[in-house]
Formats: sequence, structure tokens, C-alpha cells
Amino acid sequence: MSSSFSLDSLNPQQQQAVMAPAGPIKILAGAGSGKTRVITCRISRLVEEGAAPYRILAVTFTNKAAREMRERVEEMIGDRAKDLWLGTFHSVCSRILRIEGHAIGIDRNFVVYDDSDQMTLIKGLIKKRNLDDKSFQPRAVLNEISRAKERLETPEQYSRSTAGYFESIVGDIYPEYNKALRAANALDFDDILMAAVRLLQESEAVRTKPTLSISSPIFLRASTAA
Ligand SMILES: Nc1ncnc2c1ncn2[C@@H]1O[C@H](COP(=O)(O)OP(=O)(O)O)[C@@H](O)[C@H]1O
Ligand SMILES: [Mg+2]
Repeated sequence: MSSSFSLDSLNPQQQQAVMAPAGPIKILAGAGSGKTRVITCRISRLVEEGAAPYRILAVTFTNKAAREMRERVEEMIGDRAKDLWLGTFHSVCSRILRIEGHAIGIDRNFVVYDDSDQMTLIKGLIKKRNLDDKSFQPRAVLNEISRAKERLETPEQYSRSTAGYFESIVGDIYPEYNKALRAANALDFDDILMAAVRLLQESEAVRTKPTLSISSPIFLRASTAA
């Protein structure tokens, strides 16, 4: 079969990584050392060997890295790159949610709240409680909620796991904040990751769906954003 990339363009370590059999491999290498080239060539190799592009998941941290990866894969496999699950953590997760989120009550037309939407909402909730905005700065409250969501803690779990005055007030605001998001059919950035995890944990039907093919993806994860 003709190959869209040349093994000659890879050093021995890169060749080894690109040609390694299916299954997890971990590559640690510095910025500019050729990691993205390895990932793009490996994707290309897998597709040429017959893997369905939609069974390949490639996630990056930044939009810039995702764009670059897509362009480089497209150069090698052309239109077939369209069907790859390739994007940032957030874009891949929101795509999953738009397709399958209804299984956990998420409307496919949800809007994404950005930082200023979140700040407006949280300021309103702080004001409603007549809290002193020196001790309860919107940014600090929002960060605390965000950290809870990063730990995948629901409001109930958060309240149970924290102590202290500030945390107890945040424990009251967190469920109200979520309620307001729901009422606006909105998710914040943390919700996107949290809901995708919950969806995949709770719904075996989604997890094992062949068209979504996230049941046994071939994981390719760059070790740095470089
Ligand atoms: N084996 C190689 N020989 C020559 N140039 C390479 C090789 N591997 C990568 N490059 C080039 O080096 C630059 C950095 O590679 P890249 O894969 O983007 O690195 P990283 O993702 O680790 O930052 C790119 O221009 C890439 O085309
Ligand atoms: Mg890179």
C-alpha cells in the first residue's frame, strides 16, 4: 500500500512510536522535538491500515494545537481526516454532548457560558445574598466552584467535603449557580468536561455505541501542548 508519509522523515525513535502495535504508548519529549509529527504519522498509518477515522481520538489542550494537527493530518490522508475525533478536550467533549447528552438530560442546543457570562451570573447571586463583596469576591467564588467542578464534585459532594465559612457560603451558591445555568440551557467550560465524564460513566449505551465509537478508542494524547 502506498504510504502518505515516509519513514525516512522520521528518526529511529519516531519510527518506533509510529509503527508500534495498537495499544497504549506514552511519549515524553520536549517542545519542538517531533511529537506532533509522530502523532500525525501514527494517525495516518492507522487509517491506511484500515482503521475507521471516527475510531481515532486525538485530543489537544489548545485550539492552535488542534488546528495544526488537523492540517498536518489532512495533508497526509486528505478528506478522511474530517471524520477523526480530533480537537481540544473541550471541543471533543461538547461534540459528544451535543450528539448524546440527551441521555443525561442535556439539550443538544446548549449554549456555552464564557467568563463574562459566568461573572455576571455569580455577581448577581452574591448581591442577592447581601454578602460583603470584599470577603466574597466574584472571581474567588467562581474559582472555588470551578475547582470543585474540576474535581467532579456536585454541589452536594462539595458541601460534604469542605469546612470553613467561605466554603460553606460557596456551598450555598454553587447549587444556585448550577440551577441558573440549567435555566438558561447553558454549560460553563467545566461543565462540558464534567458532563461528558458523567455521560460516559452513566450511560453504557452511549459508551459502547458503534457510530460514536468512543468505546474502544485509540488514544493519542500529546504529552505537552507544544
Ligand atoms: N525527524 C524529523 N526530521 C526533520 N524534521 C522534523 C522531524 N520531526 C519533526 N520535524 C520538524 O520539526 C518541527 C517540530 O516538530 P513537531 O512535531 O511540531 O514537534 P513537537 O510537537 O514536539 O513540538 C516541525 O517543523 C517538524 O516538521
Ligand atoms: Mg506539537
